[in-house]
Amino acid sequence: MTVEPVQAHAKINLFLAVRGRRADGYHDLDMVNVEATLTDTLRFRVRAVPGIEIECSAPDIPKGPENLIWKAAVLLLGHSPEPGISIELEKKIPPGAGLGGGSSDAAVTLRTLNRLRNLGRDDDLHELAARIGSDVPYSLVGGLCRCKGRGEQVERLMPTDSSRPWLYALLILPETKVGTAEAYRWLDKEKIEDHSAPGDLIDAIRSRDVDRISLALHNSFDTVVSRCVPAIAKIKAAVQAEIGREPHLSGSGSSLFLVGSSQEELVEMRNRLETVLTTGSIRFEVVRFLI
Ligand code: C5P
Repeated sequence: MTVEPVQAHAKINLFLAVRGRRADGYHDLDMVNVEATLTDTLRFRVRAVPGIEIECSAPDIPKGPENLIWKAAVLLLGHSPEPGISIELEKKIPPGAGLGGGSSDAAVTLRTLNRLRNLGRDDDLHELAARIGSDVPYSLVGGLCRCKGRGEQVERLMPTDSSRPWLYALLILPETKVGTAEAYRWLDKEKIEDHSAPGDLIDAIRSRDVDRISLALHNSFDTVVSRCVPAIAKIKAAVQAEIGREPHLSGSGSSLFLVGSSQEELVEMRNRLETVLTTGSIRFEVVRFLI
C-alpha cells in the first residue's frame, strides 16, 4: 500500500475568545478557524515489519508517542499493526506556532488510515480526534468553522469556494515558540474571561469585506502573550509602526498574521517588514485562506 502524498493544512484563528477555565482544567472557547495554504505533506506506506514508524527529517519533531500522528495511528490500528505502517512527514508548518500543524497531521492520519485499511470507522473519527487534542476535530472538518467547547464542537460556517480566492494573509513566524498550556496559565493568573462574540467578523466574512474582517479579528491571548514574551511585543510594535495595523496571534502564538485582499498587497507588506524586522530570524509566508 502506497498512496499519493496527502496535504495537512495549517489553521489560523480569525477569532479566539477564551471564556474561562472549566472544572476539568480545559477552557471554554469561542473560535472562528480557517485553513490556509501552508501545508505539511504526509506519505503512507506499508512496512515489511509490524508496527508504526514515523519518518521526518526535521530534528525538533518527535518520531514516537508524543507525535499526534502516532496517537492517531495507534487509536485506529493498535500499537503493532500487521502489516506495519510507515508515515513520512514533510514538515512546513512550524511547531509551537499556534497553526495547528500537529493536529492537522493527526486528522489526515485518521482519515487516510480509515480509508486505506477499509476500517469503516467514519462515525467514530470525531470522537477519536477529540481524544487526540482539542483542535483535531476542527482539522477533520477543515475550511471555515466556528468551534466551541474546548474546541471539539465544530460547525461549518460556509462551504469553501476555491473558484474565487479573495482572502489572503501574511504570516509572521518568529523563532520563539509559545507553549499552549503555559499561555493558558498566564490567562488564568490574570483571571481573564473574554465574552466577546464573533458576530461582526462572521458578517464581514459573509460580505467579503476584507477591511471589516481586519478590524474584527480578535484573540484573547494577544495582550497576555505580548506581555509575557517580549520578542512578540517587539514584532507587534514594529508592524504597527510600519504598516499601521496590529497583527494578531493565531492560537496562543507565536505566529502573527495580517489579512489582505491580494497576494501582491501582502508581498509588498512582507518586503517592507523585512527591512524593519531585522533582529532574530523571522520567516514570512504569504498564504491564501480556504474560504
Ligand atoms: O487539547 P490539547 O492537548 O491540544 O491541549 C493542550 C493544552 O492546552 C491542554 O493541556 C490545556 O492546558 C490547554 N487547553 C485548554 N483549553 C482548551 C484547549 C487546550 O486549557 N480548550
